[in-house]
Amino acid sequence: MQGFLFSPALRYPKKELLEPIMSKKKKSIGVFDSGFGGLTILRGLVKELPEYNYIYLGDTARTPYGSRSQEVIYEFTRQAVDFLFSKDCDLVILACNTASSEALRRIQQDYLPNFHPNKKVLGVIIPAAEAAVTKTRNQKIGVIATEQTVASKAFVRELRKLDPKIQVFQNPCPLLVPIVEAGEHRGEVVGAVLQKYLAPLLKKKIDALILGCTHYGILEKKIRDIVGRNIAIISETSVVARKLRDYLKRHPEIEIKLGKNHTRTFYSTDRTEKFQRLGSQFFGQRITVKKASLG
Ligand code: DGL
Repeated sequence: MQGFLFSPALRYPKKELLEPIMSKKKKSIGVFDSGFGGLTILRGLVKELPEYNYIYLGDTARTPYGSRSQEVIYEFTRQAVDFLFSKDCDLVILACNTASSEALRRIQQDYLPNFHPNKKVLGVIIPAAEAAVTKTRNQKIGVIATEQTVASKAFVRELRKLDPKIQVFQNPCPLLVPIVEAGEHRGEVVGAVLQKYLAPLLKKKIDALILGCTHYGILEKKIRDIVGRNIAIISETSVVARKLRDYLKRHPEIEIKLGKNHTRTFYSTDRTEKFQRLGSQFFGQRITVKKASLG
């Protein structure tokens, strides 16, 4: 053992000897969403942290997750995480609020310790909650999200953990994802629907509003027109990227394993043509998508 430690080959290893070890270390950051909405989160990540390699997976064959049961959301999310782990992502971000609300805790507390103790899965709820708490002055925060995210009370739990005095007013918005997915987010219908969903929150005099769904970032301007200038809008597109930067600073042992070749790879489980077209809009650049099979 001693001789091995003091071997000159190890003290001064040749580049050829190091290369297999180094290439093994090149990991990508996995980003998962139920569909293509999470591409808005990836867009934020790529803008803030362009050097890393990213692999995106959208489960378009089974989207939307927002009205499914917790058990199903957990199972689908776990399969997606496994897929990204198999593609050499040791760090996976659940860009999907529904998956973050309904599956993340179980993945972190049960699945990873038992099956992948060296891998990490992070979500979007805590970053958004932390950002909202720094913005509110009157401790009244509004949340719009899918039905399942609202029912999980994940935002209420995380916001109250940060400040027990905070009042949280949630409104589920089941029509928004289908409207955005139909490409109608620029049309007139969406304005009327947003008015209906935001009015009860405005009545509660909220001064911060969390856009708690991947698809709502694309509606931010329309939401701003309705809520006015005095309400802080927390959009996950920028918040998650800033939080990931902090996370990687605090975890150099993870950061050091990440490849920095600026690569972006996109997978979806179905309808790759639609994904390619709408996904390019969400991501802000043309993308090419590969087909993935889960489960
Ligand atoms: N990605 C989901 C979310 O952020 C919205 C779409 C869905 O319901 O699957 O909650």
